[in-house]
Amino acid sequence: MARRKKLYEGKAKILYEGPEPGTLVQYFKDDATAFNAAKSSIVDGKGVLNNRLSEFFMTGLGNIGVPTHFLKRLNMREQLIRAADILPLEIIVRNFAAGSMAKRLGLEEGTALPRPIVEFCYKDDKLGDPMVPEEYIIAFGWASQQDIEDMVALAVRVNDYLFGVMYGAGIRLVDFKIEVGRIWDGDYMRLVVADEISPDSCRLWDIETGRKLDKDVFRRDLGSLSDAYSEVARRLGVMPSSVTHATRPTIVN
Ligand code: TMP
Repeated sequence: MARRKKLYEGKAKILYEGPEPGTLVQYFKDDATAFNAAKSSIVDGKGVLNNRLSEFFMTGLGNIGVPTHFLKRLNMREQLIRAADILPLEIIVRNFAAGSMAKRLGLEEGTALPRPIVEFCYKDDKLGDPMVPEEYIIAFGWASQQDIEDMVALAVRVNDYLFGVMYGAGIRLVDFKIEVGRIWDGDYMRLVVADEISPDSCRLWDIETGRKLDKDVFRRDLGSLSDAYSEVARRLGVMPSSVTHATRPTIVN
């Protein structure tokens, strides 16, 4: 079989040419990185979990009419997606202060915000993805005023959906990051949710205990990252924990 073409390799995923024009295959790796890859490790089964979790969230968003790049899951680590031109921005939505916002404003982590707050970062690893105001985005041509309005509207809808799904699973959605891409249907362009939605790109705290169930477990050395992600998957009914460790069976209750 001819080897398919690798188009891009990032820290956590690889993109391959897809079977049809306008499609790509997105492969989820087990690599965990933090602080712009200053810290990195391999977490057994993380790619499998994130593939399934991202499928779950993207499918749920599609079901409520939020456009995404997701087409279908192909296997344990791969999904078929629509090719999109990714905007060089990270869109962060925060419901509670944590991470860089807590630090910047001197707020205690977990402080409820008056309303969900949307912020943009410019995607550039060398610069450490700096937060940028809308003025910069428009002036440097990264996106138009209309794109910004559309991105905020998308991000707020994703927040409402994810917040509700997580709440139902006893999890507090503290904040999350999405990426957005452009897709053309003929002359018509629309923005869709792209990349992935997984515990790598969210802050998720157990509502009762405050236990962290996201990548902060790795960033802050708080225990097993795969246990945390498996717990999210289990609560959402996405997959039994044993599936991620085919060679190391565990007992599923
Ligand atoms: P922050 O508090 O470090 O700015 O992160 C806000 C949210 O964005 C948090 O849920 C983690 C997520 N995030 C990413 O997905 N990728 C990144 O590179 C960073 C810095 C944060």
